[in-house]
Amino acid sequence: MATSDQVLVASNRGPVGFTPAEDGTLVAKRGGGGLVSGLGALGDHAGTWVCAALDDGDRQAVGRAGGGLLDPADTDGRAVRMLDIPAETFDAAYNGIANSVLWFVHHMLYQSPLEPLFDHHFEEQWAGYERYNAAFADALAAEAEHGARVLVQDYHLSLVPGMLRERRPDLRIGHFSHTPWAPAECYRMLPDDTARAVLRGILGGDRAAFLTWRWAKAFADCCRDLLGAEVVDRGHELHLTVDGETTRVGVHGLGADGDFLRERSHRPDVDERLAVLRRQVGDRRTIVRVDRTELSKNIVRGLHAYRRLLHRHPEWHDRVVHVAFAYPSRQDLAIYREYTEEVSRVADGINAEFGRDGWTPVVLHVKDDFARSLAAYRMADVALVNPIRDGMNLVAKEVPVVSDDGCALVLSREAGAFADLGEDALVINPYDLAGTADALHRALSMTPEERADRTKRLAAAATALPPTAWFLAQLHALDER
Ligand code: G6P
Repeated sequence: MATSDQVLVASNRGPVGFTPAEDGTLVAKRGGGGLVSGLGALGDHAGTWVCAALDDGDRQAVGRAGGGLLDPADTDGRAVRMLDIPAETFDAAYNGIANSVLWFVHHMLYQSPLEPLFDHHFEEQWAGYERYNAAFADALAAEAEHGARVLVQDYHLSLVPGMLRERRPDLRIGHFSHTPWAPAECYRMLPDDTARAVLRGILGGDRAAFLTWRWAKAFADCCRDLLGAEVVDRGHELHLTVDGETTRVGVHGLGADGDFLRERSHRPDVDERLAVLRRQVGDRRTIVRVDRTELSKNIVRGLHAYRRLLHRHPEWHDRVVHVAFAYPSRQDLAIYREYTEEVSRVADGINAEFGRDGWTPVVLHVKDDFARSLAAYRMADVALVNPIRDGMNLVAKEVPVVSDDGCALVLSREAGAFADLGEDALVINPYDLAGTADALHRALSMTPEERADRTKRLAAAATALPPTAWFLAQLHALDER
């Protein structure tokens, strides 16, 4: 049978989401990101994108689509099959295992002596995670032509490659991790069966890929430790063999979409927001950060470091504004809601301590607005990107591309982007408040010439592998044997 050119993608979050309007209609909101742009490069070879319904709006859209293949008018003509996984199963898989266990392990967020507790709730959630992964494997198996290629995304779907291989041995299956991978001594915190099941799930594909070598090597270490994998370093790839089956492991460091960003950041809606921000900031310097309000982004410590800067360097009083955009994320989880509150509390505290008539030291916005984010990138003198750990961090790559006059980048050494941008960024330990405050001071004090030079080099490094090239690189690598 001829091998198909079809390419399928599977991810938890799809390229579109739906919100019910008051008149009963559903408003489609399209997402951006590397996968959406990457798929565009495939033209006619793009097969179906399989994703999950994330909320009631999505479920209604699936109901109306009768079977889940969404109306092409809502998806830019792309074939998107949205799975209406029972709400309890989805909750167990997404909020439970994916975001409260695997995300925590890979980002090393467990800090309390009482957590994690792998009790019977965890076991029920794990069963939900297996059902959720099986629903994806079933849908992909039903959708794929003979010999099609399937690109499975992220920690939500780590069991899918193995499950799909059982159902359809003819397919070529790749898995891509957008997160860091935990070092073996942290990963081993998972119950042994779970830890092995996740590794075996990913190894069930032909190839597994990561954003940096650091994460790829950590994955290989875990496979060696927990499964006795034999690891052979082939230079451009690692070959991992367990029970006679070999899975290739590679790296593709997703970059910023330079062409899109340069065009998008000069549209009138961005210009309008830029004018508003400039009025707010006046002739002061700006330190900008833009994040989802995500525990791993380290927003609270970033604010404490800024407070430290104002204490240690009173010369910056009334001469700098910290523009912080922290957009809501995963609000079903109490710890994310608490973190969101803490961000506001600490920002208010800094304003109460240092603010004076005409100067608000921290301008915090929590309502997601992409055009305003781009406006902030354009005007930033300094960008603060200080995650505890991060698979890549695209903000670090987007700012230098969009910046009008050059922007100094203060970057955590624990972000994947450090591998690509480390030379021209001011590199920090994300836990070190004094060190971060010093880096902010250095960044604010940099001459315009040095800033512009560094920004030029950062922008070149940041766009080395834009989303289309990143996506095609994964596909071509999957074809190699
Ligand atoms: C990270 C993950 C993605 C995820 C995104 C947003 O970047 O790697 O898979 O889609 O966060 O998180 P959310 O839970 O809102 O989808």
